[in-house]
Amino acid sequence: MTITKEKVLEALGYVMEPDLKKDLVTLNMIKDIEINDKHVTFTVVLTTPACPLKAEIERACINAIVHFVDKDALVTVNMTANVTTVRSGEDVLKNVRNIVAIASGKGGVGKSTVAANLAVALAGMGAKVGLIDADIFGPSVPIMFGAEYKRPFIEEKNGKQYMLPVERHGVKLLSIGFLADPDQAIVWRGPIASKALKQLIGDAWWGELDYLLIDLPPGTSDIHLTLRIGSSVNRGYCGYHTTKCSTCRCPQRH
Ligand SMILES: Nc1ncnc2c1ncn2[C@@H]1O[C@H](COP(=O)(O)OP(=O)(O)OP(=O)(O)O)[C@@H](O)[C@H]1O
Ligand SMILES: [Mg+2]
Repeated sequence: MTITKEKVLEALGYVMEPDLKKDLVTLNMIKDIEINDKHVTFTVVLTTPACPLKAEIERACINAIVHFVDKDALVTVNMTANVTTVRSGEDVLKNVRNIVAIASGKGGVGKSTVAANLAVALAGMGAKVGLIDADIFGPSVPIMFGAEYKRPFIEEKNGKQYMLPVERHGVKLLSIGFLADPDQAIVWRGPIASKALKQLIGDAWWGELDYLLIDLPPGTSDIHLTLRIGSSVNRGYCGYHTTKCSTCRCPQRH
């Protein structure tokens, strides 16, 4: 039986994207079909490289070709991603597809741990990731990434001076900790802290990012307000310990 592009597309029309509840062909996720006798190669473009169902979708594609087109077909699926965004017409961080804020009312519940792990995991899956340490009063990102004594370079682009984020584990990082003496406490308050955060956002050359994570200080402060006004956060994560809180021993969310 001759394998054709039409037959391949028809078969892949039976493969559903489990989250979006439509088939891969309708969702326009199939690209670059190539057929060479029994060899069938195509690309599946996911909406995020962090798709937890990546392996399942790949398996379903291979099964569909073998089942509906040719049982002797030799199928190669290239899994790639084109990260989607709901941000448009923004003035700030135009080239950032998704901004994710990690926040909680209470301190010490694991925000920075979540932010750092999420950033490294997303980068490891192939996403372009940035992380801003918005904890102006107690930055922890430089220590967590082993970059305590790093300093961002300054570069002129389009006639303006920009900070170049420090890169660690494939993640672009900026923190006030990179600009201050690591052994000195930072005592900025209110508007000055907000201004510092605005600089980390606006005066840095982030380039194109799939995800920009923002690790927030505890509570609700000027920093949170700055973030809400100065950039459009389109994802939020509220931190809490999954086990009993080690600080106050309460079993609740914070
Ligand atoms: N899920 C967890 N369960 C238990 N301990 C955790 C968990 N996540 C982080 N920790 C530990 O809790 C402590 C505080 O973590 P982390 O610095 O990430 O919290 P934070 O919310 O960012 O704190 P802050 O409010 O001071 O910024 C660390 O010692 C960390 O190793
Ligand atoms: Mg923290």
